[in-house]
Amino acid sequence: MIPASESRVPSPESRQLPIAVLASGRGSNLAALLDAHAAGKLPVEFKLVAGDHAGAPALRNAEAHGIPTFALEPKSFANRREFDEALFANVAASGAGLVVLAGFMRIIDPLVTAQWTGRMINIHPSLLPKYRGLHTHRKVLRHGDAEHGASVHFVSAELDGGPVIAQARIDVRADDTEESLAARLLPFEHRLMVACVAAIARGMLCQRDGRTWFNGAPLAAPLKLDGDGRLAAA
Ligand code: GAR
Repeated sequence: MIPASESRVPSPESRQLPIAVLASGRGSNLAALLDAHAAGKLPVEFKLVAGDHAGAPALRNAEAHGIPTFALEPKSFANRREFDEALFANVAASGAGLVVLAGFMRIIDPLVTAQWTGRMINIHPSLLPKYRGLHTHRKVLRHGDAEHGASVHFVSAELDGGPVIAQARIDVRADDTEESLAARLLPFEHRLMVACVAAIARGMLCQRDGRTWFNGAPLAAPLKLDGDGRLAAA
């Protein structure tokens, strides 16, 4: 029996980890997951793609791939908790063992995050713990940082908090704008997302006692994405 303090997602290579993806908009990270799956590089089964905007391109793309989708309209609910409970009741009913937040631009109620501890990850466009929340590219430029990046982390009740799993880094150039930074970072986000989901699906990564564990040991620092798109110790 797995202790209460540990939440592991077991998935031998022969098995497909059932996942649900939540996305609010464009869905390029979802597209990266779908491409990796189609290439046989991601041992998952897409149970559901859901979001908070019925017209989101991410949902259209999922439909085109034959994946069940739905969107809930936040305005139809009395408050955040009711919205999240309805959303995650559907996620749980889908049979997903892992929830992937791929550009899902909502804060999630702590009651719900507690139910999915160790089974929900998020991608965020900064080198966490730097720059939680919105406008990360702008903040990097304002602070004159030499480096920018993206992080994948387990989700906790804290916005963009939770144990970091892995990060991808890029240099900031003298002529960078918010737009150029976002555009240069995005392909790294895609590789990072695919690598993290694949490692969780293969049972190499889990959250235990509030930390990220990789291959049976707690991480002292987030994993880094190497040039081949693989996760490596920092
Ligand atoms: C990505 O850049 C992702 O890191 C960011 O939203 C974008 C979604 O793009 N997420 C956050 O800022 C969450 N805090 P996509 O819809 O093309 O995947």
